[in-house]
Amino acid sequence: MSALVRFFQSTILSKVVMAGTGVVLVLFLLGHMIGNLQMHIGQEKMNVYAETLQHLGGVLWLIRLALFTFLVLHIIASIRLKALNLSARPEAYAFKNTVKATLASRTMIWTGVMIALFVTYHLLHFTVKATNPQYGGLFDAMGRHDVYSMVILGYQNILISIVYIAAMILLGFHLIHAIESMFQTLGVNHPKYNSFIHGLSVTLSLIIAIGFISIPLGVLFGWIALPAGVVAL
Ligand code: HEM
Repeated sequence: MSALVRFFQSTILSKVVMAGTGVVLVLFLLGHMIGNLQMHIGQEKMNVYAETLQHLGGVLWLIRLALFTFLVLHIIASIRLKALNLSARPEAYAFKNTVKATLASRTMIWTGVMIALFVTYHLLHFTVKATNPQYGGLFDAMGRHDVYSMVILGYQNILISIVYIAAMILLGFHLIHAIESMFQTLGVNHPKYNSFIHGLSVTLSLIIAIGFISIPLGVLFGWIALPAGVVAL
């Protein structure tokens, strides 16, 4: 068997695809979280930011296409890795030696599935507005789409806020192991740096999860409030 065929059949290719696409997805999450933090500043800032993104037009669609491709490749590689791992040991272990494997690492596939379900719901909720078509009719005084009020009206529903907060806790959990193994796959793996890399993964995951969660919490506790004149739809 040639080295190239062996490479394509090995787990290495899937791991490299997972790590490479993972880097891009984490960068998207950081950017999306920082952009969304403008909800804490106010309606004007948030709506100008959302409008600027919309004005990217064709470029926005290219970014969306790239993001979608990376997400699909990430999912395909994860399924392939899981299948290769299972076929490598068809017999279930008599004793599950999971002492060293952390809870986050053992549940990656499940937190991944939950995040994929969440992203589907999130796109239907805020991007396509299929679950709440009335959000499409919200405009601010300058005639911009009122994304600020849309997000607040969404999170004023306690059930929706709970779904978002739960999804973002799972996301943080998924990221702790994901970021750490990304470094490993990309070759940054030395006993001298391992505790630093672990700390960095935990810190980045916490920043992303807490940053996102601060928005539904802000709405529920009232420090992010609807502008005068906007009423619950
Ligand atoms: C408090 C948390 C979040 C808020 C307030 C939020 C807000 C939004 C809004 C308003 C949009 C629609 C933008 C528009 O079309 O005008 C959007 C799109 C999107 N969000 Fe979020 N989001 C949050 C968390 C997340 C998380 C945790 C993920 C991923 C795990 C995510 C992934 C996406 C994706 C993939 C899009 C589509 C981007 C696009 O339209 O190109 N979001 N988000």
